[in-house]
Amino acid sequence: MSAAGEANESATSANAPVITVDGPAASGKGTIAAGVAQAQGFHLLDSGSLYRLVALQALESGIALDGGAALASAAENLDVVFAGGRIRLESRDVTDRIRGEDVSAAASQVAVHAAVRTALLGRQRAFRRWPGLVADGRDMGTVVFPDARLKVFLTASPEERAYRRYKQLIEKGISSTIDGLLRDIRERDARDAERVVAPLAPAADAVVLDTTGMTIAAAVRFVLDRYQATGPDRPEAPAGKVDR
Ligand code: DC
Repeated sequence: MSAAGEANESATSANAPVITVDGPAASGKGTIAAGVAQAQGFHLLDSGSLYRLVALQALESGIALDGGAALASAAENLDVVFAGGRIRLESRDVTDRIRGEDVSAAASQVAVHAAVRTALLGRQRAFRRWPGLVADGRDMGTVVFPDARLKVFLTASPEERAYRRYKQLIEKGISSTIDGLLRDIRERDARDAERVVAPLAPAADAVVLDTTGMTIAAAVRFVLDRYQATGPDRPEAPAGKVDR
């Protein structure tokens, strides 16, 4: 593509509508964001997977989890391809590997570094394309897509989130205890909420939805209804046309 073509492409992509879905660990945001993206025919960004990829790279290359600069350099140079619901790091399928508990714990440590967060900004924003994007994470509405059309912040009680996680693990044949999972969730919540850079908090203009006792289908419906209430999607602006 020509340089002009690229410029036009990015100018129009920057107008594509975005729905952000933020919330704590096991709040259901991944499942709900995927349901909304599918219903709307939108692209999907699971931003946590990027922090998990940096964590995996660090664990495998022996980069210290407190080394912000080295981690940021790994983040900038990630050789990753997202396609067909699979994630390939340096051509290796790591979709399941990055969900491991060791990677989860490392990702939460990787995510505290401002340099890592900055290094991942452009990569996250590049997911914004027509006809639209659903982005899930912790700071999608506050930092990455502050101009999102709709911002949703999901909550659920720690007990409910531990129970959901317990059920998921049982389905995968992995044994665990609710008490242990509850402790992990509380620790991760504290680390995500207390970090200095992009702490977990709803954007001032976010709709907060407590999903305790709510089905996934009902939560997806809620987000779709709120999105539809924001008005019709504008067609993609032709190159050079002033977007009003
Ligand atoms: O959503 P997740 O569990 O896959 O996220 C993995 C880790 O990355 C988690 O500790 C929080 C962090 N994270 C973040 O800091 N900012 C994001 N936008 C997404 C995830």
